[in-house]
Amino acid sequence: MCGITAYCGNGFALPFLMQGLSKLEYRGYDSAGVTTLEKDGLKTVKCKGRLKNLEEKLQDFKMEGHVGIGHTRWATHGIPSNLNSHPHTNDDETISLVHNGIIENYRELKEELIQKGYHFQSETDSEVVVHLLDDYYDGDLFEAVKKVLKRIEGSYALCIVSTLEPNKVIVAKKDSPLIIGKADGAYVAASDIPALLEYTKDVYFLADYEMAILQENHIDFFTHEGEPIVKELVNVPYDLEAAKKDGYDTFMLKEIYEQPHVIAETLRGRIVNQKIVLDELNDIDFHQFNKVYFVACGTAYHASLCGSQVLERATKLPVIATVASEFRYNDPLVDEQTLAIFVSQSGETADTLAALRLAKEKGATTIAIANVLGSTISRDANYVLYTCAGPEIAVASTKAYTTQLVLLILLAYYIAQELGKEIDHELIQQLNTIPQYVENILKDHSIFENYAKMLENLHDAYFIGRSLDYASVLEGALKLKEVSYVHADAYVAGELKHGPIALIEDGSVVIAVATQPHIAAKTISNIQETMARGARVILLTTHGEEVKNVENTYYLPDVVPTLQAILVAIPLQLIAYYTACIKGCDVDKPRNLAKSVTVE
Ligand code: F6R
Repeated sequence: MCGITAYCGNGFALPFLMQGLSKLEYRGYDSAGVTTLEKDGLKTVKCKGRLKNLEEKLQDFKMEGHVGIGHTRWATHGIPSNLNSHPHTNDDETISLVHNGIIENYRELKEELIQKGYHFQSETDSEVVVHLLDDYYDGDLFEAVKKVLKRIEGSYALCIVSTLEPNKVIVAKKDSPLIIGKADGAYVAASDIPALLEYTKDVYFLADYEMAILQENHIDFFTHEGEPIVKELVNVPYDLEAAKKDGYDTFMLKEIYEQPHVIAETLRGRIVNQKIVLDELNDIDFHQFNKVYFVACGTAYHASLCGSQVLERATKLPVIATVASEFRYNDPLVDEQTLAIFVSQSGETADTLAALRLAKEKGATTIAIANVLGSTISRDANYVLYTCAGPEIAVASTKAYTTQLVLLILLAYYIAQELGKEIDHELIQQLNTIPQYVENILKDHSIFENYAKMLENLHDAYFIGRSLDYASVLEGALKLKEVSYVHADAYVAGELKHGPIALIEDGSVVIAVATQPHIAAKTISNIQETMARGARVILLTTHGEEVKNVENTYYLPDVVPTLQAILVAIPLQLIAYYTACIKGCDVDKPRNLAKSVTVE
């Protein structure tokens, strides 16, 4: 799960490579490096740590090559270190490459190459590829790459440069993203679209088992077998400004504040005359399904958990929400009568992608709910619906989550509508008011900043909720732990007495969500039980609930219960955000995490 960039053109390669890496740093920031092809050979500069370390190091070098590759790393094999950083170069320094993915059979290949006398500088799986290329090179780099692709197993996006054939970059892809851009006087490549936008919006989406040769004014595409193919140039409607911080201190805060806008964008054109319009799904006959699966990871799983409850209630079909890494290994009960919905912001998450492929193999009809246009999951699924959150750069997901909720609620009622079920017209009507309510909650930010002060010196926090509120507290706890490193657990409130209440003592902080009227009173009783044991409580609830002696209660606007799942996400995000800020954490790039998890 790294970020890679490549440039071949009439300008200097380095500026493109570095600006691209800065846009991709969310994919990993354990180390970074670049190689350019200079008049006197390959020049590689790399170092451990964030991109700014590389920027500082580069000040001592002059790199004026017109061909180059770059990498920002999230360590999988080998600790973050200078030597394990990419690019990797062969022994006589004629070939250099960057790799995103995992070479699963690297141990046997490494053994074979060591026997042949190759020297390994790093502990990475990626380095085998460059020595293997060297081994296969016989006067034609393209032929050597083809042979290498036959030998390596696993996932990869590769960009390769060589002094032996200096005016080109060869790229290849399988199970890791790679987008190619047609810029002015150059072809460029990167792991994600924001890295290209400063140079071009015209892109080719390289598919699995495809490769390309990039030259200054020319590009050729091939299958991994070397068969020439023709690819369509696509204009992506992304705005470069959207990928910048726009005056906010952090991307996370910017993205939290973008929610009114992106929720409105996601709703745009979807409700016409009280009917839900999802034209992309027009040719599905929903009567054919006898069960539905939601499959996702992390935050997208929490959105799915909410979506699954809404869908089950609306359609009366059995619905199961499951984590992708479990689904793919648990021989799920999926067949032709199964509808399987895969939720993923990046559209590249390895477990979700593998789960999608498994569901397709088993005959399910698959729908992707993705945010990144042209991402692998969005292309592999039978149908795709896009959340319109725009590029999400902060590692912790915020606007993708709320737009997923919006789209999943729309989808649930769309399926109900198509099945001829009774529709909650009040909910449909209120959906369009959600952006304004979110806007109002954001204005209360100082309340949540004050709540965050309660968490500043704590090691642990407890989140409780029931029904839809349970999905919300799972997400609230995840947000808090990932950005502030406060250990946070979320419990179904009714489970407290079965064990977790043993942890509550004087000064513990309990964050309770009670927005579902049929069950809110029960959750409120549970918080009284924690208060009796010394807990300090933050309660997010709705008017009309009877709340006694709770130190901090925030009342959410009055909308139908299902839509509270969207609204309550905002206070939970802000509590996590401000806690992280008070503690001085790097909010946008929490330790050990990466934005797009393209490894298992
Ligand atoms: C947490 C977060 C992650 C992702 C998860 C799935 O804030 O962002 O838990 O939700 O890695 O990622 P996608 O949605 O890209 O499949």
